[in-house]
Amino acid sequence: MGEMIESNLESMSELVSLCKRRGYIFQSSEIYGGLASCWDYGPLGVELKNNVKSRWWKAMTYRPDIEGIDAAILMHPDVWKASGHIDNFTDPLVDCKNCKSRFRADNIDINAACSNCGKKDTFTEPRNFNLMFKTQMGPIEDTSADVYLRPETAQGIFVNFLNVQGTMRKKLPFGIAQIGKAFRNEITPGNFIFRTREFEQMEMQYFIKPGTQKEAMEDWKERRHKWHVDNGLRPENLRWAPHDSDNLAHYADMATDIEFKFPIGWGEMEGIHSRTDFDLKQHQEHSGKKLEYVDVMDGNKKYLPYVLETSVGCDRTLLALMCDAYRVENKGEDNERVVMRFHPAIAPIKVAVLPLSKKLEEPAKKLLEEIQMDYKCEYDVSQSIGKRYRRQDEIGTPYCITIDFDTLEDKAVTVRDRDSMVQERVPLDKISDYLRERLRF
Ligand code: GAP
Repeated sequence: MGEMIESNLESMSELVSLCKRRGYIFQSSEIYGGLASCWDYGPLGVELKNNVKSRWWKAMTYRPDIEGIDAAILMHPDVWKASGHIDNFTDPLVDCKNCKSRFRADNIDINAACSNCGKKDTFTEPRNFNLMFKTQMGPIEDTSADVYLRPETAQGIFVNFLNVQGTMRKKLPFGIAQIGKAFRNEITPGNFIFRTREFEQMEMQYFIKPGTQKEAMEDWKERRHKWHVDNGLRPENLRWAPHDSDNLAHYADMATDIEFKFPIGWGEMEGIHSRTDFDLKQHQEHSGKKLEYVDVMDGNKKYLPYVLETSVGCDRTLLALMCDAYRVENKGEDNERVVMRFHPAIAPIKVAVLPLSKKLEEPAKKLLEEIQMDYKCEYDVSQSIGKRYRRQDEIGTPYCITIDFDTLEDKAVTVRDRDSMVQERVPLDKISDYLRERLRF
């Protein structure tokens, strides 16, 4: 096999082109010239995303102390007044009076020339720009019908706190988890799917006794870090970024991010926030409904629980997984290959079934039918076997099964391992066991 030289992704554009070429991610509305910073997940992208979501869902909700929900994207507008998003969810913005470009005031030097048109002294005074998307509910267009697309999924959990606690008979500490779309009218979206205006969050609020937030923080920091490593991210590409006290969101008393080393530099992937009783208190006040928890373990004391939140972007996690998995091996040599070294649980396609000749389609299809309900498979009969392997390497398929003319005689197939490229002969009647052993997560 020779010495393996591994190199990593050098630029985001390399990944953008692989994503398009191999059916992971396309530009939204491409045939109309695209819509800025909006992306569509293609056939492989949606599999990858579903794998990320399912790993998170299992890690977070297949345990007795956490329940899942799926709340509506549209919520009562008072939710956003109570949560502080109407008043505080803003970024400072400046306009260039010459070319009308917009910038985040905290990202530029107001006295410098505009980076778009090159003119000096053209910036307006900074003003606060609310990041929520507003729309109208029903046919009457007046402000009483204003509703917002949620900028975080968390509020759907806070307003359902007592519904879940009561119906599921939960005692503190317990959590509520949810996966769903969130929308933010970001001033400067970009860097592929790193910052978009429509994205998916995977959030969990862990309701705890006030005063226990420090230990809850430590627990969840460890669990969430482990989750990323278990998905295949290399620990050296992860780091903690604690928020100092003057950099905290309006709801938090303690917070830290998990950052990943993207080709554009270190960037936030997940936030772990101690939100105190800020949200429940605000909703109690604005809705007029008591949201207190009755602590039967503590003399029926009534209080508002504190909340430890873990909030991770699904799209950003997926981007990190792709950046980390991308390797060019034996660069510049005859046997150079691009391989996505995904953890098998993350890989969109688990098995490729490759008959060496069209004449072998019958046994190949029979095998495919046997395994395709258990593993997402690709079936490929075109081009040379070398080219077919290369395609599977580039999309990160852990196992390729080749059916050749010997198969008709010895009732066995060749299985090729993506990472070692080692091939072994496996009897057809043992294939299910073989895959089950290696693809059990
Ligand atoms: N409920 C807390 C909350 O929303 P956040 O730090 O604003 O916290 C959490 O967002 C995560 O959501 C981020 O770490 C990031 O992964 C993801 N995220 C936030 N804004 C995003 C955007 N514009 N595009 C893609 N992902 C985003």
